[in-house]
Amino acid sequence: MSSSSSTSWQNLPLKPIPGSYGLPIIGPMHDRHDYFYNQGRDKYFASRVEKYNSTVIRVNMPPGGFIAPDTKVIALLDGVSFPILFDNAKVEKRDVLDGTFMPSTNFFGGYRTCAFQDTAESSHSLLKRLIFFILSSKHNTFIPLFITNLSEHFTDLEKDVSKHGKANFNSSIGTATFNFLFKFITDKNPTETKIGDSGPTLVQVWLAAQLAPLATAGLPKIFNYIEDALIRTIPIPSWTVKSSYDKLYEGLWEAGTSVLNEAEKMGIKRDEACHNLVFTLGFNAFGGLTNQFPILLKWVGLGGESLHKKLSDEIRTVVKEENGVSFSALDKLTLTKSVVYETLRIEPAVPYQYAKAREDLVVQSHDASFEIKKGEMIFGYQPFATKDAKIFENPEDFVADRFVGDGEKMLKHVFWSNGRETDEATPDNKMCPAKDLVVLLCRLYLVEFFLRYDTFTFEFKPSVLGPSITIKSLVKVSSTV
Ligand code: HEM
Repeated sequence: MSSSSSTSWQNLPLKPIPGSYGLPIIGPMHDRHDYFYNQGRDKYFASRVEKYNSTVIRVNMPPGGFIAPDTKVIALLDGVSFPILFDNAKVEKRDVLDGTFMPSTNFFGGYRTCAFQDTAESSHSLLKRLIFFILSSKHNTFIPLFITNLSEHFTDLEKDVSKHGKANFNSSIGTATFNFLFKFITDKNPTETKIGDSGPTLVQVWLAAQLAPLATAGLPKIFNYIEDALIRTIPIPSWTVKSSYDKLYEGLWEAGTSVLNEAEKMGIKRDEACHNLVFTLGFNAFGGLTNQFPILLKWVGLGGESLHKKLSDEIRTVVKEENGVSFSALDKLTLTKSVVYETLRIEPAVPYQYAKAREDLVVQSHDASFEIKKGEMIFGYQPFATKDAKIFENPEDFVADRFVGDGEKMLKHVFWSNGRETDEATPDNKMCPAKDLVVLLCRLYLVEFFLRYDTFTFEFKPSVLGPSITIKSLVKVSSTV
């Protein structure tokens, strides 16, 4: 048996893991109604932490039904126990990307793509190396490429605000993100392929069918039982979205010749590589970023004019000193960097992580040790780990300069990328390979935004994938520093 990799191992009392799964069938169904409809996910966990007086508990997780008959997980709900999920020697990450169920591989051309593979599978590191190859070969081109896409996005927003008095941020950033990612991977525009300008819709349709069991449309209460039975009893078949998927696949097949050639040189079959490109572009990258940018804008927006002024001052001063937007400029933006990290801490875009114990192990919370048996499913609810009041001061507050200066020491407690912010993604771990790219793109977004605008007003409402943001006004830059 091995012990958890918590930073300071202490001799804490070994306790049985409290919690309850309830009666078969009824327990999981009752719990998922609490989770989706009666309590909502934060209250679902918080009320059980309080009831069992423990941050490591046994709970059911959705969807259940025929989709995921085994709903039992051990939930880690603090910042000390959570990192056991990153320890690949102790946990297995095979087919657990979506949690207690795995969508049919027919959604992915019959392959288990990289994100579903465990580190013990040799094809995992091979496929991940392909992603690292793309990322490193585009290192010097992504700044100008993203700036071009953002400039179209801002023109879009301005046009809609002046014409209709409001602009749909999510749909505009969705288009910019898809166009950026497609060109990033293939060097071509999606409009040069059969994807045309329908990329975001094609991805959303495909994602919705595979992830439906984890979602709720937020309909009035009387529809809850119907919705629950419809999307959480049996899976939506992959053929319903096959034509959308095929278009994405064919678009990447057509445009991605040089990446696919490289994949073949590395020993990956051409069609497997292409299915992995669709998954990485559509699920990992588009899914992650189109969730992340609205979250970023929401928290910066809530920071109000005083935060906007501080960000504009910093950004405009540094960009002027550095004669433009460069890696070195992005690195000098201390407040902007901290705002991005604080956003990733307070509202991680991918809030759930799952893994199975490879062996009997012990995990520690702040106040006790718990034994987990080989094969048990471990689940981490990340917002509770990165808003742990025993680690972060005022954890529920958005503190823009939290990670400035000495605050940088706290970056090891930021986990958005399925690892510590101070650790590196490698082919041999399960950390997001685009960890650094994502942080840079968020900084770059704020730079381009505050080079154009002094401030903005907006409205938001929570939705399945991140908040839905409506921009109400954009105040153009009044002066340069
Ligand atoms: C804000 C945007 C993003 C977020 C929040 C995000 C988050 C994550 C997380 C949490 C994981 C681990 C999932 C798990 O195993 O539980 C992951 C894995 C992964 N991400 Fe990202 N990601 C983002 C953007 C991207 C981008 C832009 C790319 C590609 C260019 C990418 C490629 C991948 C891949 C390939 C994996 C699987 C890694 C492996 O199996 O070892 N992600 N990402």
